[in-house]
This record gives sequence, structure tokens and C-alpha cells, in this order.
Amino acid sequence: MNTILLVDDEPKIRQQLQRALADEDFEVLAVASALDARALVAERLFDILVVDNLMPGMTGLELIRELAQTTAEGERPQIIMMTAHASVESAIEAMRHGAFDYLQKPFEVDELIVVVRRALAHAALRSQHHYLLHERDEEFHHYGIVGRSRQVQEMIRTAELVAASKSTVLITGETGTGKELLARAIHDRSAQRDRPLIKVNCAAIPETLLESELFGHVRGAFTGAVQNKKGKFALADGSSIFLDEIGTMSLTLQAKLLRVLQEREVEPLGSDRPQRVDVRVIAATNRNLPQMVAEGKFLDDLFFRLNVIPIVLPPLRERKEDIKGLVEHFVKKHAQRAGRTFERIDEKFLESLSDYSWPGNIRELENTIERAVVLSTGSVLSPRLVPALEPATPATPQLPSLNLRQNLDWAERETVRRALDQSGGIKKDAAEAMGISQRALSYYLSKHRLEGGGA
Ligand SMILES: Nc1ncnc2c1ncn2[C@@H]1O[C@H](COP(=O)(O)OP(=O)(O)OP(=O)(O)O)[C@@H](O)[C@H]1O
Ligand SMILES: [Mg+2]
Repeated sequence: MNTILLVDDEPKIRQQLQRALADEDFEVLAVASALDARALVAERLFDILVVDNLMPGMTGLELIRELAQTTAEGERPQIIMMTAHASVESAIEAMRHGAFDYLQKPFEVDELIVVVRRALAHAALRSQHHYLLHERDEEFHHYGIVGRSRQVQEMIRTAELVAASKSTVLITGETGTGKELLARAIHDRSAQRDRPLIKVNCAAIPETLLESELFGHVRGAFTGAVQNKKGKFALADGSSIFLDEIGTMSLTLQAKLLRVLQEREVEPLGSDRPQRVDVRVIAATNRNLPQMVAEGKFLDDLFFRLNVIPIVLPPLRERKEDIKGLVEHFVKKHAQRAGRTFERIDEKFLESLSDYSWPGNIRELENTIERAVVLSTGSVLSPRLVPALEPATPATPQLPSLNLRQNLDWAERETVRRALDQSGGIKKDAAEAMGISQRALSYYLSKHRLEGGGA
């Protein structure tokens, strides 16, 4: 018989839930405080811990945190947190510390029973280590997100939780860490998944057009506005909008965006009729927004509006245990594409992949593997032919590979680097020489990690 420890300071709820669970043939022990629960958990093994959050003495969350610190994952019950003051934040915290799920009060007892059964099923799987690894892999591949490091698991848990809500998400991380991939994963798990995720790359659109791109315009709003145009926010009504590279937005536009987020309505350029929109915002940036706020380059109010659920993607060099899985994933993907098969991956090659610092993160890793797949001739994927890991830029302008995308990337980087060289590092002149705006230049600088990406 499965045993459940139920913790709630409200006698009525405690009794009601205890009875319902007992009716389902669970052995249920009910206590009124987290402190009592703590003592019991230390004494005997429970399969499930159902715990309220706000209670006098010690909160459920505190108990969960403590259990996470003092017990190994396999040795503590599956935890389900109940919360009346349903803040997604405390639920996320609980999940971060290993809770299995949470229920928002008030809920039907049937809901609890369903979650308990799921938790038990999960625990059964968990106890079979082998099965577990396999299952997790499947889970990650399902999102297209590969990685079993603690950071990636945490990120996936958070993503799953926020997917169910409509809260604003701010994803930050260096270039190539998977911000866009994660944004899509969140949208694909949300109730709005049948509608498209509307994407706006704020860095790629010239400042003057960005406002109308976001909010739309009416005919005659400005020269060239020959017909009404729906903005991306209006398009995303009832769905999600992905505001990529949000850190490049001008202060003026930031202020307008802030108003939209506050009022939940947009006003197309040239129109005096605001339109209500119900849009979930997922924003991403590789910039340090708090620092930009401190420097007066980003509105603090906007930052706080966006930073409701922050998700920070760690650089690849800080989670090297993910490299192997990613390599296998990308080898499979690109070998399949190229119609190739490899018996194995050269050990030394794998080693050098682990040693490298990956400034371009997962994108760079994928490019490297793609190149290796194309250039390896035998049945062993080997490093000999892979130039990517050499740190220096080639002295002569030789194309680095047969891959068009990489060549374009490389050419872009080289062009920007040389323009900067020739202008003695003066960005205004470099931008002029290339015939692009300074905003576009700072985008390329940060994309290619030249000059620290500053404006
Ligand atoms: N965990 C992961 N598992 C598998 N593939 C990944 C993972 N993270 C990123 N990728 C892949 O790496 C590439 C870069 O990811 P993505 O475009 O999401 O990064 P980004 O953070 O948005 O980068 P940038 O700041 O340069 O826009 C994509 O091809 C993506 O599919
Ligand atoms: Mg991106």
C-alpha cells in the first residue's frame, strides 16, 4: 500500500483530503504543521508528501527546500505542493527544489488523486535508474532540447510550468545558448500552441520601422503607409509574441512597449483607437539588462514588467556534461541529412570538444559537428579536418568550409571585424563604411562577440 503524508494547518481541508485519499486505498497520515512533517519524514518512508505552503512555523516551501538539501532524490517522497496564494513563483521554487507538481487551491479532490497517481507512476519509473535515463532523454528530445545537466533540467521544469501560465517570460543567455529554441518550446507546451508564435527580431528591423511592425499603422500614418497594416501584437492576439533581442530597442520604443504591457492594448500608428490585445510575451536578450538599466539604457519599469519569470540559459562551458549528448544528437541529425553513417566518434575529437570553451555555445557546437560530418571521409567521425576549434581567425580569406551558412556567418564576422579594424575601432565610421546603421552594427558585434558587443 502506498503511504501519503498530508500536511495542512486547516483541519477541514486536512480531514476532507485525508478521507478522499483513504477512500482510494492509500494509507494516509495527516499532520497540521511542516515541523511535524519534518520529524515524520526523518523517521519513516513516505511515497508521497502533500504539503500546504503557507502555514505557521515553517512553510511548505521551506520544508521542500530543506528536504532537497538533506536527502537524496531517490530517498525522499514525491512532493506535491498546495498553494492558496497561487503565485507561479513559489510553485516554480518548489519545483526547482524537486517537487513533483503543485495544486492551486481551491481544487477538486479528484485533481489531487490524479496528481498523486501520476507522482506514484513517476516514482516507480524513477526507481529504475536505467529506465529513468532513457525516459529523460525521450523527454528532452521531445522538446528538441538536449541536455541532462542540472541547469538544463531546471530550465525545462520552469518552461513546463510557465507554459501553463500566461506570465511574461524573460530569457537571457549568451548567443547560441538556445533562447529561441526555449521560447518555442514554451509556446508549444502552452494552451495557445495551435496558434503561431509571432516572432519579432528587434535588432534586425530598423528603428523607424519597428514601431509600426510591433503596433501596426493606419493608412496615411506616415509617408509610404499606403494601407492599413496590422502590427505583430495584434497578430499575436490570443497567442504569444516572441520579442527577440529586446536589449537593442531604443528608449522611446521601450516606453511605448511598456505602455502596451501595462494597458494591454495597442494603438496603431496614426490611429486614435486603441485595441485590446491578449498576448503572452516571451522576450529574449543576450545583453545584461540590469546593467543597461543602471546605465540608463533600459527602462527599469519595462525590465520589471518583462522579468516576471526569468530564465537564464547558462553558457555551454558551464555545463560541459551536456556536450556528449549534444554531439550525439547533432551527429545523428547531420549524418542523416547527409546520408552518412558513422560507426563511432573519435575519442580525441570528443575530448577536444569538451576542452574547448565554445564562445558561440550550442550553435557553434552544431556547426562544428555539421562540418565534421561533411568533411570526414571514413566511418569514424574525426577531428583532423575540423578547423573550427582553432582559436585564431585565418590570415587569408579562405572560406572555412563547404557549408553555405557557415561561410556566410564567417564572411559576416570577417567583414565587420575588418571594417572596425580599418576605422580604428570607431563604430560610427565602421557602420558607415559598410553602409549599415549603428544599431545594425551593434547587433552584428554582439552576434559575433566582437568588441564585447557594446553599442
Ligand atoms: N539544448 C539544446 N539542444 C539541442 N539543440 C539546441 C539546444 N540549445 C540550442 N540548440 C540549437 O542551437 C542553435 C542556436 O539556438 P538558438 O537560436 O535558440 O539560440 P539563441 O540563444 O537564440 O542565440 P542568439 O542569441 O544568437 O539568437 C539552434 O539551432 C538550436 O536548435
Ligand atoms: Mg536567438
